[in-house]
Amino acid sequence: MNLPRQFPSSRMRRLRRHAFSRNLVREHALTVNDLIYPVFVLEDSGREEAVASMPGVIRKSIDLLLKEAEECVKLGIPMLALFPVVHSDKKSLLAEEAYNPEGLVPQIIKALKANFPELGVMTDVALDPYTIHGQDGIIDEDGYVLNEITVDILCKQAVCHANAGADVVAPSDMMDGRIGRIRQSLDEAGHELTQIMAYSAKYASSFYGPFRDAVGSAGNLGKGNKYTYQMDPANTNEALHEVALDIQEGADMVMVKPGMPYLDIIRRVKDEFGVPTFAYQVSGEYAMLKAAAQNGWLDEKACVLESLMAFKRAGADGILTYFAPSVARWLQEK
Ligand code: PBG
Repeated sequence: MNLPRQFPSSRMRRLRRHAFSRNLVREHALTVNDLIYPVFVLEDSGREEAVASMPGVIRKSIDLLLKEAEECVKLGIPMLALFPVVHSDKKSLLAEEAYNPEGLVPQIIKALKANFPELGVMTDVALDPYTIHGQDGIIDEDGYVLNEITVDILCKQAVCHANAGADVVAPSDMMDGRIGRIRQSLDEAGHELTQIMAYSAKYASSFYGPFRDAVGSAGNLGKGNKYTYQMDPANTNEALHEVALDIQEGADMVMVKPGMPYLDIIRRVKDEFGVPTFAYQVSGEYAMLKAAAQNGWLDEKACVLESLMAFKRAGADGILTYFAPSVARWLQEK
């Protein structure tokens, strides 16, 4: 057979020919250690509710959550992130329930730590589960979220979670100066080793829709939005500014949220700061993948694993994902 006169001396396909060399040259790996599993928790006991816009996600009361937590421990998932769903009579303008030491979140933390001390427990620090209007903070008569009074309450909330045994508190509220104030409050309360994962670059995203259904804040928020505190999806330099402030104020880990549409932000944050950087594959991303998979339009396992590998490639050290238990199982199969 005649070779063409011009043939490539660099053949990229050489290394792709066999599995052994594809395995050898692979640059990134996804493992169970990369996963944080967000869970929605209900009050009372024996309660289980599906979330319509997040097929496969079940909100559970603590007794049932413990069974799922046991499964997570067996699978080797390092940490759960807790999202409470409280009865509407516990919601108020000043969100007092957010720092109730007998409240739902402290109860879950204690139950999890008592049963599975080795499982990391992370909590969301923000007031939206507890306000009657679904905003993350305290509002004035115009509906504007007030920064300082909100931060005062966030500090109480963070200390309340740490008192109950939370390993990581994750402020997701986007108030200015909250990381520094929360760090100081934790330290003063003797929790100098409680970690802070800052939702640093949190965008005002429409991909949070299904989450707001899941925690029951969608109805309260109504046509409201979070544009006066969450970031504009058009911005990227601003994300670096946010991350710089949070690191300076004492964040141990930073987060970019949402995930897949914001991989460029993860890469810039990782390159610029080199600190532990996390990404949140949010409810809307879950819903999209799940809906396509349920229709038979996408291969769920292959696409979810690919989506998570993309986070690793972009520079994320770990990912919050509602797919965590499935992913842990798929990784064991391989
Ligand atoms: C609220 C909070 C939100 C999410 C995590 N914490 C929603 C919001 O800001 O309205 C979104 C998570 C998701 O969509 O999966 N502080």
